[in-house]
Amino acid sequence: MKTILIVGIGAGNPEYITVQAVSALNRADVFFLMDKGSAKAKLNALRRDILQRYVRGSAYRIVEALNPERIPDNGDYPGAVGQLNSDKGEIFERLIATELGEGQCGAFLVWGDPSLYDSTVRIIESIAASGRHALAYEVIPGITSVQALTAQHRVPLNSIGGAVEITTGRQLAMGLREGVDTVVVMLDAQESYRLLVGQGWQIHWGAYLGTCDEILIDGPLDQVADQITQARHTARQAHGWIMDTYLLKRIEP
Ligand SMILES: C[S@@+](CC[C@H](N)C(=O)[O-])C[C@H]1O[C@@H](n2cnc3c(N)ncnc32)[C@H](O)[C@@H]1O
Repeated sequence: MKTILIVGIGAGNPEYITVQAVSALNRADVFFLMDKGSAKAKLNALRRDILQRYVRGSAYRIVEALNPERIPDNGDYPGAVGQLNSDKGEIFERLIATELGEGQCGAFLVWGDPSLYDSTVRIIESIAASGRHALAYEVIPGITSVQALTAQHRVPLNSIGGAVEITTGRQLAMGLREGVDTVVVMLDAQESYRLLVGQGWQIHWGAYLGTCDEILIDGPLDQVADQITQARHTARQAHGWIMDTYLLKRIEP
């Protein structure tokens, strides 16, 4: 039997790691890192930093593999993501077959928490279910970018007794359901918050949360939307990519 640990490492600050995650890291013989290109090298630098800080000894191996690119979606986003996950699945399965010995333990270090907008659990589950490998897997939770955002802005996520919608920029652009008054938006490449200007929202926005590049802006959306857009463009130019999340709360009349 081989074991895969899917370890949430937190969303940016190496101190977001849990004690349970540190114990899990110390069980692993091999760490699998997906290479997303030079622009995103900082993401794997954090993973390496975490291993250096928290793994006792150096009797582990790191195996890097090239992350597949998502094909252009041509209007079929789920199809494009499905294809990406299937390509990743082939790579993960090859890594498990060739880089892990019988009885060994491999770990994937997942950004934030593995249950939130991440397909590692789905992919490993389907490899285990295929029956092609004797494979056990465990999931270790991590601090999400949502928690990093609310902590850095020192705000509670929900209103008293209220619901919270967690969604993507793509979904937000298609409109909010009736009665939603607290929304967290992730994966927003299209700056969908701009569509809500003039509709009475407060925004708490954060980029590169928990890292030394962190940027925080908050205030009434109508007043800070342009500032956020400007900050996004400047940061994207400086880093080559951007990772941002925001919380929208309806301003009480
Ligand atoms: C593929 S999802 C992965 C989320 C991750 N599993 C989590 O628990 O937060 C990537 C998105 O998460 C958000 N994100 C992740 N880390 C972030 C950070 N440090 N600062 C701001 N947003 C972040 C961004 O919206 C980004 O587009």
